[in-house]
Amino acid sequence: MLAKRNIGNLEVSAVSLGCMGISHAYGEASSKQDVAELLAKAIEVGYTMFDTAEVYGTADNPHHNEELLGELLKPYRNQIVIATKCGITFDKSFIGKGTMPLITDGSPNAIRESIEGSLQRLQTDHIDLYYQHRVDPKVKPETVAETMAELIKEGKILHWGVSEASEEYIRRAHKVCPITAVQMRYSMMARWHEALFPILEELNIGLVAFSPLANGLLSNSYKPDSQFDAKTDYRASMPQFKKESFEKNKALFDLINQLATEKEATPSQISLAWMLCKKPWIVPIPGTRKVTRLIENAGAAAIQLSADEVKNIDKALDEMEMSDVFGGSKIVK
Ligand SMILES: NC(=O)c1ccc[n+]([C@@H]2O[C@H](COP(=O)([O-])OP(=O)(O)OC[C@H]3O[C@@H](n4cnc5c(N)ncnc54)[C@H](OP(=O)(O)O)[C@@H]3O)[C@@H](O)[C@H]2O)c1
Repeated sequence: MLAKRNIGNLEVSAVSLGCMGISHAYGEASSKQDVAELLAKAIEVGYTMFDTAEVYGTADNPHHNEELLGELLKPYRNQIVIATKCGITFDKSFIGKGTMPLITDGSPNAIRESIEGSLQRLQTDHIDLYYQHRVDPKVKPETVAETMAELIKEGKILHWGVSEASEEYIRRAHKVCPITAVQMRYSMMARWHEALFPILEELNIGLVAFSPLANGLLSNSYKPDSQFDAKTDYRASMPQFKKESFEKNKALFDLINQLATEKEATPSQISLAWMLCKKPWIVPIPGTRKVTRLIENAGAAAIQLSADEVKNIDKALDEMEMSDVFGGSKIVK
């Protein structure tokens, strides 16, 4: 059974499930039947945290992911942690004029409107972990934290967090209402948030690592000629999937493959085990739509890498050539 660990004071499965790709960013949405099987297997294997957002949708249904999870996770609701996100919303001035662009809106009104929508779509009376999806430069961290504190008092959320935020933002927000977790892009290819680790440790905030496989690349199951549909699959334009990147990332693949052989594991498991063994408060949320991979990724929690092994991997990563990787702003301490 998948081990558990704490992010802040919230206990979750050591590897948790990123649900975005079921609806969004990696091609056409999965069928309801496939998702039902996937989620049932996830529960059986021991996944307890399921990560979504109000904006993970399809061209036809901007809230597809939350709606589907709400329906399919309902039977398991009292055994699981549902994490969703507000603060990036659709620009409703575009209703009826085609695809609605996304805008950041961290205002109290926007957060309150979002929580009501998410509660309804997720068919629940509370969200276990509610994130501000992106910082809104127009709204102070204190204002967002005050709104989250009110939602906690009202029982609508149990914990809160923020995705892709700076040290200053985290400290100021945390002072008003303690943050349980930050969600950041973190993988062997995206390590810039390591600068925040001492602060997270000091404040007892967990790190939920998104895109921990560098959007799948670190699984080593893609080839220079892998094709992605540019209309529905963001990997078509991600730098790490460009043909020339495979050559640039050769040393990285060699390292992961060598460790996989040594540990009798798969490349994905090594990529996840590296961060799991680094800090006890890091929880990766790899996304997959396939039952076999869901089981494989959970297996990462059983792989032991010593502190020296982790240190040696970091040193090798520091020194090797790598391609660019898809990812928002590089936030440093
Ligand atoms: N806070 C934010 O701004 C933010 C941004 C992005 C993502 N997220 C969250 O983080 C989660 C994970 O991130 P992500 O989906 O972008 O990236 P990821 O987990 O690094 O990679 C997902 C991709 O890897 C493939 N994959 C997963 N396990 C595999 C395995 N064992 N072997 C081979 N391929 C494997 C999946 O394909 P298959 O589905 O075909 O298996 C999928 O295309 C999302 O679901 C979402 O919940 C948050």
